[in-house]
Amino acid sequence: PQRIFSGIQPTGNLHLGNYLGALKKFVDLQEEGWDAVYAVVDLHAITMPVEKGALISQTRQIAAAFLACGVDPKKSILYAQSSVKAHVELAWIFNCVARMGWVERMTQFKDKAGKDAERASVGLFTYPVLQAADILAYKATHVPVGEDQKQHLELSRDIADRFNREYDAPGFFPLPEPLIKGPGARVMSLKDGSKKMSKSDPSELSRIALVDDADTIAKKIKKAKTDLLGDMPSEVEGLEGRPEVENLVGIYAALSGETVEAVLKQYGGQGFGVFKPALAEVTVNHLAPITQRFREILDDVSFIDSVLKDGAERADAMSAPVIREVRELVGFWGA
Ligand code: AQP
Repeated sequence: PQRIFSGIQPTGNLHLGNYLGALKKFVDLQEEGWDAVYAVVDLHAITMPVEKGALISQTRQIAAAFLACGVDPKKSILYAQSSVKAHVELAWIFNCVARMGWVERMTQFKDKAGKDAERASVGLFTYPVLQAADILAYKATHVPVGEDQKQHLELSRDIADRFNREYDAPGFFPLPEPLIKGPGARVMSLKDGSKKMSKSDPSELSRIALVDDADTIAKKIKKAKTDLLGDMPSEVEGLEGRPEVENLVGIYAALSGETVEAVLKQYGGQGFGVFKPALAEVTVNHLAPITQRFREILDDVSFIDSVLKDGAERADAMSAPVIREVRELVGFWGA
């Protein structure tokens, strides 16, 4: 059977990259009828400093964002990672399956730890191992993520494969496949076409937050960096060497559901004075209903908590038998 797992950290405000790279795809896949497990990954969040006492409300916020974007708790499982024990238990076992050399190659650790890696938490280093456990505790076969997660997914496959061999259990864990598709898979900063849009960028102007109002969105798009070449190209080849323009066109395509070719056909030869307001309109029209639902859901804490509680029970019931089998395969006393 095919199953999806994916998660989002309860850190900071979600932005258009998180939406197009992850949340929107979660909903599209759910509507295609996939069996899906979605987590607010709070265990991942504590690999970096978190403001004291903020985790609960941040977890509810991300859960509300999942719901506002259209994740339906009747169709998909939505829960907080720390409320299901399987993640931590499997992560430890996977820490003993993964090799130092594999994890040392991960570029996200290098980016997030910065210059002073000695002071990074050990958890930040083994973050991708916990991610493998998240996915494989449900024997998920597919993982919808943005392109920045591709390397971590490869590590998950290596861990699954090595576990299967080491414990003579061919095919026990599936080798999970990334689902990284379409123009939204890599949304770049509005200020620098070579950097991904990210929560941790110090400049607010670099990203569109899911909760930005219409004026703010229009202002950010107006101020978005373009280049001195002037008009929009009318063909895809014309985007080469123009990463900022490519990014804006990609955002338009992902939000409108059109292809990049179609967008260029419509706007080729026009100046940014025409394209940017059009992009702002598409963005506002798409995000406004989501933002409104988000605010409504956020007001109903008991609803959010009931969704998370029900999700945790279902996630636990799904992962517990996998963990039981893992314990037997490893050969623990009492398994
Ligand atoms: N720029 C992006 N384009 C497409 N997809 C993206 N994702 C993140 N940035 C982009 C996808 O969003 C999902 C959730 O990410 P997360 O919150 O678990 O982790 P993150 O990578 O820490 O998110 P940020 O916003 O990028 O934060 P920082 O600043 O910490 O790096 C993932 O599926 C991710 O691929």
